[in-house]
Amino acid sequence: MAVIADKCPDIIVTLVDIDQNRIDSWNNKDLNKLPVYEPGLKEIISRIRNKNLFFSCEIESAIKDSDMVFISVNTPTKKSGFGAGYASDLKWVESSARQVAEFSVGHTIVVEKSTVPVKTAELIQHILNDAEKNSRNSSNLKSFSVLSSPEFLAEGTAIDDLENPDRVLIGGEDALAVRSLSSIYERWISSEKILFTNLWSSELSKLTANAFLAQRISSINSISALCESTGAEINEVANAIGADRRIGQKFLSAGPGFGGSCFQKDILNLVYLCKYYGLYEVAKYWEGVLSINSWQKERIASLIVEKLFGTVTNKKIAIFGFAFKASTNDTRESPAISIAKYLIENGANLIITDPQVTPIQIEMELSLSESQQCKLGGGKWAYSKDHKYCVKNADAVILLTAWDEFKELDWKDLICLMRKPSWIFDNRKIICIDDLKGTDVNFWQIGLGTIHSM
Ligand code: UGA
Repeated sequence: MAVIADKCPDIIVTLVDIDQNRIDSWNNKDLNKLPVYEPGLKEIISRIRNKNLFFSCEIESAIKDSDMVFISVNTPTKKSGFGAGYASDLKWVESSARQVAEFSVGHTIVVEKSTVPVKTAELIQHILNDAEKNSRNSSNLKSFSVLSSPEFLAEGTAIDDLENPDRVLIGGEDALAVRSLSSIYERWISSEKILFTNLWSSELSKLTANAFLAQRISSINSISALCESTGAEINEVANAIGADRRIGQKFLSAGPGFGGSCFQKDILNLVYLCKYYGLYEVAKYWEGVLSINSWQKERIASLIVEKLFGTVTNKKIAIFGFAFKASTNDTRESPAISIAKYLIENGANLIITDPQVTPIQIEMELSLSESQQCKLGGGKWAYSKDHKYCVKNADAVILLTAWDEFKELDWKDLICLMRKPSWIFDNRKIICIDDLKGTDVNFWQIGLGTIHSM
């Protein structure tokens, strides 16, 4: 929405939320305290906030004044009840649709921006159709058009993804409404990149795109394990297969498993849909992508313990990176969570560093406060921004997020501070082996395996 407002100074964009604290943080004068860290975002916000971009809790008046409403709420996996563990929880989509139905005036275009299961637009349409019918006897005659326009940005590169997208997808039947939305994007995106589909294809394309991306990661991660066993090297394999234009070079970086709020949730959702329609084989196929992802995290956590003589009890282990990927402060489903939990449960004393993640977030994700002893195995965690302090007397460093600042560290210097025998586990392939030459560190890298003598 910030990018839309930035590109279209004549359009007033108002972001509304029921959470006053969140809106207050978006209105915070200190731009370093915005709730989301995203490169380039604070610059846009500082340029246009309170000019044509507003953050507010005045939901009623915002809907009343709007010609177009984007529903961009959370659709997390249901934790309980019908479809628990797989289906998306659509309660926020439904309540947003009800608010639009209640407060809108005249004709309103409703754009489904949240990632949703196929046929969600039907739910929205149903609620809005009722409001349309009921308004026939009133002076406020309401009408609606529902469109689907899923978002394909990735965190950490969101602004660039929005400014230069591969494509924009608009699904819907009402040609006038489709034209209105498309004309907004056409202000900065060439019309060939704007694709038009029916509502259901648009909804399904979003789930499918994420499922295919996640599948690539599970594929390369499965091969990373085979590389470690055979002497092949994962980057060489990735380069070799990626040179085939049908495969392509992108999204072939082996790692500790995918995280983030989308891939797992969207595949679970896809699996749920397949089962709902009786397509059990298809469901099983996509479930495989998730099981490889869980397996990758488990295998890394247990190989770390195994390499450290089978026990991490009372060992100091430094975790470099807690965000699910670089350039974001988002920790949702980060592979660091399950790996850290496993090590703490095995008695390790972790010291965690991340350039953007706060200790409060880590505490929430680990369900364990800083320095509090874990009941299961007696381990604990602490947080520090000081890399030297993190590695001092540590038995191991585990690199989990590919932050640029980790790439620039003087690893030889840091290794000198560690307890011997010292280990580095590079799960993102950001350390160049030549930079460790002359040290006595034991080095394990994803898709390569262990190198003992440097
Ligand atoms: C993902 C998709 O890439 C976006 O297109 C989509 O719009 C978004 O989900 C969404 O549905 O909102 P995001 O989760 O922000 O974006 O980030 P990705 O760059 O896709 O990374 C996801 C995870 O995969 C991260 O943990 C990352 O480290 C991992 N990954 C990615 C790899 O392990 N290897 C790779 O080669 C690429």
